[in-house]
Amino acid sequence: MANTASLKIDDKSYELPIITGVEDEVALDISKLRGMSGAITLDPGYKNTGSCSSAITFLDGEKGILRYRGYAIEELAEKADFLEVAFLLIFGELPTKEQYQKFHADIKKQSIVDEDVKKILDAFPKSAHPMGVLSSLTSALTSFNPSSVNVNSEEDMYRAIVKILGKFPVLVAWTLRKKQGLPLDYGDDDLGYVQNILKMMFKSPSGEYKQNKILIEALDKLLILHADHEQNCSTSTVRIVGSSHAGLFASISAGISALWGPLHGGANQAVLEMLEAIKADGGDTKKYMAKAKDKDDPFRLMGFGHRVYKNFDPRAKIIKKAADEVLGDLGVEDPILDIAKGLEKEALEDQYFVDRKLYPNVDFYSGIIYRAMDIPTEMFTVMFALGRLPGWIAQWREMRLNKEPIGRPRQLYVGSPSRSFVPMENR
Ligand code: ACO
Repeated sequence: MANTASLKIDDKSYELPIITGVEDEVALDISKLRGMSGAITLDPGYKNTGSCSSAITFLDGEKGILRYRGYAIEELAEKADFLEVAFLLIFGELPTKEQYQKFHADIKKQSIVDEDVKKILDAFPKSAHPMGVLSSLTSALTSFNPSSVNVNSEEDMYRAIVKILGKFPVLVAWTLRKKQGLPLDYGDDDLGYVQNILKMMFKSPSGEYKQNKILIEALDKLLILHADHEQNCSTSTVRIVGSSHAGLFASISAGISALWGPLHGGANQAVLEMLEAIKADGGDTKKYMAKAKDKDDPFRLMGFGHRVYKNFDPRAKIIKKAADEVLGDLGVEDPILDIAKGLEKEALEDQYFVDRKLYPNVDFYSGIIYRAMDIPTEMFTVMFALGRLPGWIAQWREMRLNKEPIGRPRQLYVGSPSRSFVPMENR
């Protein structure tokens, strides 16, 4: 392939460097275009814009490939645990046994959350959405851990990373317990990372928490599948907030807010609410298919479609199988699962969905598993955030280590031309 691409504006020609990725993806470097020609590129929603070079996650939406640091998601979901994947994403290699043990021990040491954070939690009404609470509490951690991260020191970076990996699950569990009116619980250093999360969330105040292997494996898998997804809306938010040299907690808190929206992480909650609405309405999936296709109806089939997967979402395949297994193992018979399967079958055969390459995404089935685990619907997106945390950290770390400039897009101004101020009495 040539080294440059030519762009002609009027009678002038500009050479744009061509950059190739390791998987032969092609990018045109337009960073000097404005300086050379005065023109900017316009791409609302960044559908065609690469914001950075990254060595963390590769995905090919046409072929349905997703790899973390070169490892296929299918293999990681089957063979690794979540903490191993977190280490891989953040530091680039799978941990040795010693590295894993040290990483886990360091996280445990940092998992104490200041008791005063409880006062902030107490100030929220029980009706508050857990994502709003989680974002606020994560932001509050900045005030309780004020030392700014010296990104030139690997040691400082590492400390900030294990701190947030230790404290975040506590905040997640407390958010749930507050909502349910339960006393807050503390972790247990003898437990694995995911086991500890389950214990902190579900331990009854009056009894022991009995670990369930099916639930541990299911949660491990769900968290791994959500752990990173390259430059999506929340990750781009984390990178752009971090690019102003705001700290890690502040950047992650912004990522949580971005994830909350129903077009992004909020979709898992929206999927379940949609399936319940269909069930309450008599289970007529055809009616909802028709609504989704009607351009005068704002209804969309939640859990279908993806910005980059235009064939299938590899995570959806894994999760569909996991949903069948978990429900089977737990002996749960859920009519919602039947509605979901019916809807998927109809959509896959429907011309509207086929033409637009709309396939079930990762969130179509994740909510069904969370429901079987007794996790309330409003907490689904919080669970997504818990899984995405290592990805956000890895992307923030990479952005800072690469010394990326502050994120600051351009715009095309389409407002009023210059005009004179009109005093109020003359308006
Ligand atoms: N139901 C019905 N029609 C849809 C759906 C859907 N879920 N998704 C897209 N379409 C249609 C659009 O109306 C549009 O039709 P048109 O070409 O006739 O105008 C076409 O498909 C393309 O849709 P866009 O919105 O342009 O696609 P985009 O890539 O911008 O959006 C998105 C992707 C936001 C995920 C979208 O498919 C959607 O809203 N899906 C439902 C929400 C959802 O499940 N989000 C989770 C995403 S995965 C994640 O964040 C983990």
